[in-house]
Amino acid sequence: MSSEVGVVTRAANTHVQVLEVLEVIVETSSAVSIVLAVPDRLVSRFRYQPGQFLTVQIPRGDGHVARCYSLSSSPHLDEQLIITVKRIDGGYASNWLCDNVKRGDRLTVLSPSGKFIPRSLHQDILLLGAGSGATPLLSIAKSALIGGSGAVYFYYANRTVSDTIFAAELEDMMIEFPDRFTVEYRYDDTDGVPTVDDLAERLVPYRKFDAYLCGPQGFMEVARGGMTSAGMDSTHLHTEIYQSLSGDPFADIVIPEFDEGADSASVQVEVGGAAHELAWPREARLLDVLLSKGIDAPYSCREGACSACACTVVSGDVRMLANDTLVDADLAAGLTLACQAVPVSDEIRVVFDQ
Ligand SMILES: Cc1cc2nc3c(=O)[nH]c(=O)nc-3n(C[C@H](O)[C@H](O)[C@H](O)COP(=O)(O)OP(=O)(O)OC[C@H]3O[C@@H](n4cnc5c(N)ncnc54)[C@H](O)[C@@H]3O)c2cc1C
Ligand code: FES
Repeated sequence: MSSEVGVVTRAANTHVQVLEVLEVIVETSSAVSIVLAVPDRLVSRFRYQPGQFLTVQIPRGDGHVARCYSLSSSPHLDEQLIITVKRIDGGYASNWLCDNVKRGDRLTVLSPSGKFIPRSLHQDILLLGAGSGATPLLSIAKSALIGGSGAVYFYYANRTVSDTIFAAELEDMMIEFPDRFTVEYRYDDTDGVPTVDDLAERLVPYRKFDAYLCGPQGFMEVARGGMTSAGMDSTHLHTEIYQSLSGDPFADIVIPEFDEGADSASVQVEVGGAAHELAWPREARLLDVLLSKGIDAPYSCREGACSACACTVVSGDVRMLANDTLVDADLAAGLTLACQAVPVSDEIRVVFDQ
């Protein structure tokens, strides 16, 4: 039996949505926060955890590019979604967003994603951030202070005082939670660039805290060194790495024509509590097959970089076309990336349980 060539329309893929810009807040001379309205019908689709991000479609020529932006809002406090964008010298999307987005505009986005989320809001939390790396950390701090019970210590590095995003909001939080929230600012121009030794000394009192780290690559390396020297267990450390997507997660999904049986495997998939049995064409990626059938599987980058689509192969064999995120321990546990997996065996069972 021959199946039809399938192209999924945007409407069938409920991850892709258009949100209205309610407000653009100028944070510093090089950063803005964009406040997005979530209509009632999309509230459950846009439910998120502190530390997660949105993937945004940015027009370019006749097409577009896609970039991830962390939510600076907190699901425990803020009614609307807020992303915060800092200009990168020579960068396309960050400058386009800072220069062009205004109230009333509509942005095409993917629903929230990401695994940089606090393990528990009730643990003591160490936040280490620089520049726009403060964005997911602000969300985590607000949620931990409002929804949790532990202490939160935020080491926040910037080039200068005037580059410091969220300074006023952080001051308000320190006033509201004087016993639980501390921010230590570090400015390159007056204090010098952070060093491993300096951080090691400062972090000793917080070495048992759960640590969340986000910032430019150089800062992340120094912070990691400081934490190790302070005697922190690396299993307490969670990192978010900022990089630009190279692919297009908004692209339509095309399933090549195939003969069911001859050109396909059979896959049983459990996702969101529902079970499905499908033909899986040999050349097609599992995520594309699921989305083409209107099955709501999680994803973000569609290029093997973020692990939002990770799922467990319970039986049978698959092969990944790319993998920039799963480590050996994940593979040993049977994880695969649905956006990169093609079938190897004839019968496969997969569970989305992450
Ligand atoms: C999960 C995730 C969350 C993110 N959250 C945020 C956020 O909250 N706020 C935010 O501003 N950005 C965030 N980013 C980064 C963002 O997605 C873009 O990478 C960034 O805005 C640069 O895109 P661009 O198109 O302006 O630059 P591009 O045109 O992609 O890059 C231009 C040049 O700048 C370099 N470059 C790219 N990104 C950086 C960078 N971050 N630092 C230094 N050089 C860079 C590139 O190597 C290239 O040479 C996040 C990224 C990820 C993956
Ligand atoms: S969607 Fe990002 S790795 Fe699959």
